[in-house]
Amino acid sequence: MKRSSIIAAIILVLVFSGNAQPGQPDTGRRWWKEAIVYQVYPRSFKDSDGDGIGDLKGIISKLDYIKSLGVTAVWLNPIYSSPNDDNGYDVSDYRGIMKDFGTMDDFDALLKGMHQRGIKLVMDLVVNHSSDEHEWFKQSRSSRTSPYRNYYHWWNAEWGKPTPRYSLFDVNHDAWKYDSLTNAYYLHYFSRKQPDLNWENPVLRQEVYDIMKFWADKGIDGFRLDAFQFAAKDTSFPVFPEGYEKQLSKYYAMGPHLHDYLKEMNAEVLSRYDVMSVAEGAGNSFEDAHNLVDENRRELNMAYAFDGVDIAKPEGYSLLHFKNVFSRWDSAFASQGWLSVFLANHDQARMVSRFGNDSPAFRDLSSKMLSTFIMTMRGTPYYYNGDELGMTNAGFDKIEDYRDMPTLNEYQHQKDIGGDLQQFMQRLQFECRDNGRTPFQWNATANAGFTTGTPWLKVNKNYITINQSAQEQDSSSCLNYFRKLVALRKSNPVLVYGKYTLLDKDNPSLYAYTREWQGKKFLVLLNFTARQVIANTGYNITNARLLLGNYSSALKGNTLRPYEAAVFQLK
Ligand code: GLC
Repeated sequence: MKRSSIIAAIILVLVFSGNAQPGQPDTGRRWWKEAIVYQVYPRSFKDSDGDGIGDLKGIISKLDYIKSLGVTAVWLNPIYSSPNDDNGYDVSDYRGIMKDFGTMDDFDALLKGMHQRGIKLVMDLVVNHSSDEHEWFKQSRSSRTSPYRNYYHWWNAEWGKPTPRYSLFDVNHDAWKYDSLTNAYYLHYFSRKQPDLNWENPVLRQEVYDIMKFWADKGIDGFRLDAFQFAAKDTSFPVFPEGYEKQLSKYYAMGPHLHDYLKEMNAEVLSRYDVMSVAEGAGNSFEDAHNLVDENRRELNMAYAFDGVDIAKPEGYSLLHFKNVFSRWDSAFASQGWLSVFLANHDQARMVSRFGNDSPAFRDLSSKMLSTFIMTMRGTPYYYNGDELGMTNAGFDKIEDYRDMPTLNEYQHQKDIGGDLQQFMQRLQFECRDNGRTPFQWNATANAGFTTGTPWLKVNKNYITINQSAQEQDSSSCLNYFRKLVALRKSNPVLVYGKYTLLDKDNPSLYAYTREWQGKKFLVLLNFTARQVIANTGYNITNARLLLGNYSSALKGNTLRPYEAAVFQLK
C-alpha cells in the first residue's frame, strides 16, 4: 500500500469513527455534541389516515414544523413491526415497519425528507429483549434443541424453580414465565411478551449487528440503545439479597461482559458509520457512565442517567437537590466523556407538570424557564415533543382511560394484593407515562387536529387553549420562545462546550450558573418558584447584554420575577 493510501485510510477511519485515539482524552467538537435532539413519539404525533394512531406519513406531513423548531436531530421511538404490547418496545421484526405506522416506503420518504431539511435521524434499538412474537422466539420455544434456543434465557423445570427475578412490568412482578411446551421457564425483565435476549450467544450478537447495519446502510444517523444496561446477565443466576428489587439497577445493570459486547458492537458497526450512539441508563456511578462513554474506550458516545428526572416527586422536590445532581454530573464529565441533558421523555409525565407549575398562571413561564435550563446546559439536549408548547399532564382519573401496559398490570397487581387503589390512581395523575403520550396538540379542532378518528389515547382537554396553531400566531408563546432558545444554542457553542460554574449555590429558589468558552461568558438565571427571588451571583448585570428572557420586559437588577429565566452575555 502506498504511503498516501495509508494516510487516506487513516483519515477515513478517523472521520468515520469520530473518536479520540486510544489513551487520548476527548476534546474535539463533534456533530452529536452540538446536536439538539427532538424526540418524536410516533404513536401520538400525527395521524394521517384516521385510524386514531400516529404514523410515518403523519410525521412526514409535519417535517416543516420540526424544521421550523431549528432542532438538528430527531429521535424516533420504535417503529418496527410489533404486536404492541409495549407500544413498539416489543419488536417482532427488526427490519419491518409496524403496520399501524405505514410501510418501508414511508420510512424511506421520512428519512429522505429529514435529510433534505438537514435533520438527522436517531432510531431506537430495542435489543435487551424482543417480542415473544418474533420468529426467533417462536423457534426458540418450539424445542430445547432448536438452533434458536440460546437466543433467549431458558431454565429447565427439572432443575427446580429458577432463582427469583423481579419483572418491572409483570402483573406478579415475576420475571420467569413457565412455558409448558418445553417444560421450561424463560426470562423477561419487562413483560411476558418481551423475553430477554441472550447476549452471551455470539450468533445472536451478530444478528443484532446485522440489523444495525441494515438501518445504518439506509443512512440513519444514530441509535438509542433501549434498556441496554440490562442486556448482560450473570447466567448462573445467583440469589440476590432480600429487597434487591428496591435497588434494581444495582443488580440488573452493567452485568458481566457488557463492555465486551459494546466494544464488539462499536468495532462491528458504530465505528464503521458516521452514527451517534446513546444508551438508556448510565449504570450506578460516574465510573460506570464513563466506562460507557469515554471516547478512548470505543464503546458509546453518550448515555443518559435517570438521576435528574427521578428528582420530581408528587409532594414536590428540592431545588438544592436538583442543582446538586446536575452540577455533580457536569463536573464528573467536565474533561472527559459527554453527557445528555433532558427533563422528559416518553417514559415520564410532562416536564412542566413534574418540574414546573402547570397552573394557568405559571404554566407558560415555568415551561419556558425549564426549556431555558435544558438548552443552556453542557451536554446534548434531548427535548420531548409537545414540551415546546408547554403541554401538561392529562391526569386521567379513571383507569379505563389509561393505555400503558405496565400501569394496567400494576393496577391489577394492587387490586390482587388489596393495595390502596385510590392512592395508586392519584400517583398515576402525577407520574403515569401516558401523561406524556397524549396526542400532540396541533390546533383547536376536534381531537386537537391529531386525528379525524378516535385517538388511541384521549387528548388532553386543554388542547383548545394549548396548541401549536395558536402559539404560531403569538410571538411570545412557548413555541416561539423555544425556537429562540434553539437558535441561541446553535449560534453559541459556548452553550454546548463552555465550562459550567454554579453560582449562589445555597439559594433554594434560584438556579444560576455561568458558561464560559473561548473568551465568551454567559450568565443564566432561573427562578424555580412562583415568588420573587433575589439573585446573589456576584455579577452586576447592568452592563451585561440580555440575550433572552421569558418576560416581555427585561430583567433589571437582582430581583427575578416568578419563574423568570434570563440569559446574559457578560462583558
Ligand atoms: C425502555 C423504554 C420504555 C420501555 C422499556 C422496555 O425503558 O424507554 O418505554 O417500556 O424500555 O422496552
